[in-house]
Amino acid sequence: VEMAEIGSAKGPTGEHRIILRYADEPDYTPDIDCYLRHGGYEQLRKALSMDPAAIVAEVKASGLRGRGGAGFPTGTKWGFIDHAKNRKPVYLLCNADESEPGTFKDRQIIYKDPHQLLEGMIISSYANHAHLAYIYIRGEMVRGAQILERALAEARAKNLLGANILGSGYDLDIFVFRGAGAYICGEETGLIESLEGKRAYPRIKPPYFPAVLGLYLCPTIVNNVETLCNVKHIVEMGGEAYAKIGTRNNTGTRIWCVSGDVRRPGYFEYDGGAITLGKLLYEVCGGIRDGNRLKAVIPGGSSAKVLRAGETYRIRRANSEGTMEEIEMTLEDLPLDFDTIAASGSMSGSGGIIVMDETRDMVECLNNLSAFYAHESCGQCTPCREGALWMHKILDRMAEGEGRPEDPQLLLDLSGQIAGRTICAFGEACSWPVESFVAKFREEFEAKAAQERKEHERLQPAC
Ligand code: NAI
Ligand code: SF4
Repeated sequence: VEMAEIGSAKGPTGEHRIILRYADEPDYTPDIDCYLRHGGYEQLRKALSMDPAAIVAEVKASGLRGRGGAGFPTGTKWGFIDHAKNRKPVYLLCNADESEPGTFKDRQIIYKDPHQLLEGMIISSYANHAHLAYIYIRGEMVRGAQILERALAEARAKNLLGANILGSGYDLDIFVFRGAGAYICGEETGLIESLEGKRAYPRIKPPYFPAVLGLYLCPTIVNNVETLCNVKHIVEMGGEAYAKIGTRNNTGTRIWCVSGDVRRPGYFEYDGGAITLGKLLYEVCGGIRDGNRLKAVIPGGSSAKVLRAGETYRIRRANSEGTMEEIEMTLEDLPLDFDTIAASGSMSGSGGIIVMDETRDMVECLNNLSAFYAHESCGQCTPCREGALWMHKILDRMAEGEGRPEDPQLLLDLSGQIAGRTICAFGEACSWPVESFVAKFREEFEAKAAQERKEHERLQPAC
């Protein structure tokens, strides 16, 4: 199902919207005239008058970290290409596959503000000496692909793309490439294989990352939609000013997508570390639905480890003076940024916050996730292909009342045999939820495993 615009909570949310500035403005339309009326492509003009290396330096100074999930420093990634020695073409790929369950931020940008993405991509391509770029968009996002195609045609018609862009002597074209709806196409090397016309089997990395050997074995920069949009704003305000937004090492704003058992789900943009999870859930999203109590949160898309309400974490982090300190925090106290969420034992990933209330059966929730991973494993490596399916089969029979007493431990043993033994991070993605759900809600899994299915239910054929 292609999700159209999800309403963002209105009211005193205290958001700082840079990327989503116009996302909820009814009069703001995705066409180029609207974008130009709002100052669009001014930063491209500015960037084209700069030396590409100076733009890379600004992005490095900004501290921008990748918004696709891994949080890798964008300027560092760009810096891996040695343009003095490189004789091959450089490609820029925008990863718009956005397939992580719980994540729906990039599509909002594409639906409402596609030219913001294009401006960010043209500047980033120029900075990286790329003359050909692709937007790899998830197959199901048919409308998103159409909007982008139209935006690209508009940009070409105004010489913002093509030969000699705005008389600068710089040539670039961008094409939309639609995936076929497989989760693994969002893994950057799977994406590259798919773009080359092959099955999206991820490549082994390290030693070779796409920045060195990417598309057609040429240096390739792969960045997420939100990351590329930020580049436009870094050019506008300068890297140093951008770095003052948010906290050290968590600069700029981040878009958080909240789904699940809250009264007002939606997308929200805050400075790095500026809002706690509790404030976001209880004040901005209106609290837990039906007056229920919070049970658990997955803070960074379904691949992240689940956090249980009532837990406390000892978070070691730098204070405003830069010295390290250790603070005890509850789940609700956690400021939303890359480092604090990582210190809680999970990860902020792609910013998809999935909320579960006290009515949720954790075996069923995990079974739902495991069905996804069992279906989406590309099958290239045995631990992932066999393990993801095996874990799902165990969870499925537990959910059906056919559990065995040894199942919780078997799930833990299995998940421990997958993570770290596979070609790509899918191995971790499918095993971390299992490991954390079973460890944190062990009593529920044991109760379910001990549950006898009633005789008359056994006789009913499963549908
Ligand atoms: P990664 O940590 O392997 O790499 C992050 C980025 O840094 C990549 O572009 C990689 O090429 C680059 N990189 C890292 N070390 C490098 C080096 N030494 N030299 C050159 N480049 C280097 O993480 P990965 O596998 O790309 O992403 C995993 C994350 O993706 C997960 O944490 C998950 O949150 C997220 N994810 C997001 C999805 C979405 O829909 N947005 C879907 C699935 C996963
Ligand atoms: Fe494919 Fe899973 Fe191996 Fe990744 S870990 S390459 S998804 S089989």
